[in-house]
Amino acid sequence: MKKAKLAFVRGNNIGEVDKRLFGSFIEHLGRAVYGGIYEPGHPMADELGFRKDVLELIKELGVPVVRYPGGNFVSGYHWEDGTGPKENRPRRTDLAWGTIETNQFGIDEFQEWAKRADAQVMMAVNLGTRGPEDAKNLIEYTNLKGGTYYSDMRVKNGFKDPFDIKLWCLGNEMDGPWQICSKTAYEYGRVAHETAKLMKWVDPSIELVACGSSGANMPQFGRWESTVLEHTYDDVDYISLHTYYGNPQNDTPDFLACSLDMDYFIRSVISTCDYTGAILKNKKKINLSFDEWNVWFHSKEADTKIEKWSIAPPQLEDIYNFEDALLVGLMLITLLKHADRVKIACLAQLVNVIAPIMTENGGRAWAQTIFYPFMHASKFGRGTVLFSTQESEKYSSKNFDDVPYVDSVGVYNEENGEVTVFSVNRSLDENAVIDMDFYNFGKVEFIEHIALECDDVKAINTADCAKVMPVKKAVTKADGGKVSVEIAAKSWNVMRFKVEK
Ligand code: AHR
Repeated sequence: MKKAKLAFVRGNNIGEVDKRLFGSFIEHLGRAVYGGIYEPGHPMADELGFRKDVLELIKELGVPVVRYPGGNFVSGYHWEDGTGPKENRPRRTDLAWGTIETNQFGIDEFQEWAKRADAQVMMAVNLGTRGPEDAKNLIEYTNLKGGTYYSDMRVKNGFKDPFDIKLWCLGNEMDGPWQICSKTAYEYGRVAHETAKLMKWVDPSIELVACGSSGANMPQFGRWESTVLEHTYDDVDYISLHTYYGNPQNDTPDFLACSLDMDYFIRSVISTCDYTGAILKNKKKINLSFDEWNVWFHSKEADTKIEKWSIAPPQLEDIYNFEDALLVGLMLITLLKHADRVKIACLAQLVNVIAPIMTENGGRAWAQTIFYPFMHASKFGRGTVLFSTQESEKYSSKNFDDVPYVDSVGVYNEENGEVTVFSVNRSLDENAVIDMDFYNFGKVEFIEHIALECDDVKAINTADCAKVMPVKKAVTKADGGKVSVEIAAKSWNVMRFKVEK
């Protein structure tokens, strides 16, 4: 039996959870749009062709913001192609993914879909093949009332009211050699600054995200962030972070330790933002938008076989197993522990493409294993993240030392007087006991313990059979603010406590 300790003190907080921490992402890629969220003619499609079965699952997941339309796709995208009468929309090559984009779905449809998904739109502009002028035209189309060329174009397309999009990404992964028209940090910093200027002249109330490095492993990581921020510090509110992990070597203890790398990545970017602010003598705080994160590796081999210039082929269709769900849980715990600075995060992506939700064209929709930790965190992880003192036995793996077997975070929801503790036990063969102490929370009552447990770390969910599903566990009695909870080997746990208000 592994042993762990966890203690919270009311008033000792990390920070408020911004609900946009539970965002996601829809790119024009594979079957995310076509056959995913949009499939006219599907028995469950509504009058606009949006799949209602998929919308139901998305609402269950709880996704307050969705990034769109890319990703790598955006760096070659002409947003006007996806507006107006569908019969006039051009088919274009998508150089990012080697496919054909039919443009039957665009911003006109996406903003309508987002309303039905109860989500805010996070829109990216093309800073690859395009630049400031087109970004300015797009925001004129989406946010101006009327009386100008692009706002009148929207009205003519049937949308009298502006879409009023308030959150914008200045391009995507502009440092990556794979990006359509990638840039040096200086080139990107300059163009991001000029684009921000024009966009804010159209609508000063928007928030902007500058592109950080595509990953902490990029050669320019750190220097890229500081150079970009030197040009854009006054323009932007957030800098982006992206990361994907995989287990191609089949080393589960090492794979489950990857959230330590995510934690280090976040801390490095916070330090770089603050360092840049210091040298600029600027007291403004730049926050973090972790707008792509997930497990991604299962589909890489299959994707090499996709025929070039296909339309919406199955692409990046990772089938997630139980250990992937555990790492996603650990990544959510890591994001919550940085709630003071990470204000936006997008699970990449939402449907079919490295996604918690899968569909069959013309058929069923179902939840992958990673759906559940995300759903739990989004549902119960709202409020204030509590600072905690944690003790746990530790292990070393191939790439990591001092990996705690038990990793936890607590979120206090003042409105309903509840503390929810999320914990993962990384031990593959031993249960763990967590001795919890809620110092000054008064009388504590253990309301509910939900867990994701499975003997087989490689178990998956399909349309026919869901092997990885949450279960309810028996609850123990809390005594004087103290409670001991046993959690299973390799498990994700959601423990909800009523505390005195
Ligand atoms: O999410 C898949 C791809 O990963 C995105 O298009 C890109 O931004 C990243 O490299």
